[in-house]
Amino acid sequence: MTQLTRRIGGAELEVIVADITTLGVDAIVNAANSSLLGGGGVDGAIHDAAGPELLAECRTLGGCPTGDAKITKGYRLPARHVIHAVGPVWHGGSRGEADSLRSCYRRALELSQANRLNSLAFSAISTGVYRFPADQAAKIAVHTTIEALPAAPLVTHVIFCCFSETSAALHTDVLARYGSPCA
Ligand code: APR
Repeated sequence: MTQLTRRIGGAELEVIVADITTLGVDAIVNAANSSLLGGGGVDGAIHDAAGPELLAECRTLGGCPTGDAKITKGYRLPARHVIHAVGPVWHGGSRGEADSLRSCYRRALELSQANRLNSLAFSAISTGVYRFPADQAAKIAVHTTIEALPAAPLVTHVIFCCFSETSAALHTDVLARYGSPCA
């Protein structure tokens, strides 16, 4: 269910509440860990829905450092690809967590442009098990994405796929205010 849609530059940005494994976009962005070998949360849901071929491909990638992302096929998912982003674990904010989270969004857009993808759906990286404060994470997600879009002109549709009304409200508030004096 769409909470808000805004056109900024050449892209449409949308906040929804949904199970990201159901979205038929070019790529969904997974909140993975550095092993890329699956886990719980959205990582578990994506691997469950994609089937065993996803893990088999992930095994060939040699892991992924925090703040970076790697792309695979989507296999049994409706999405063509999965971008596995490794977000930071929250340790109070003094260990570069915000920069690492920004880097996840930037890298996902870089990979989308490089792979000529047009539509992308983000899960709320690091806001579950990794305990990143959801309000700060939503602001990083929206602002970083908008600031990175000019370098990814092929990306014309970005969805912030939230898994709760609370998470969606936080993303909607940031997206609605972006560009206004009280942003
Ligand atoms: N669709 C969309 N969003 C989802 C789904 C889903 N099916 N399932 C969970 N989420 C949301 C959570 O509500 C949260 O807002 O994804 C966000 C990220 O939470 P986690 O999945 O816990 O990811 P994260 O906090 O980044 O922790 C990553 O958890 O699952 C393990 O292997 C993963 O070790 C890694 C760690």
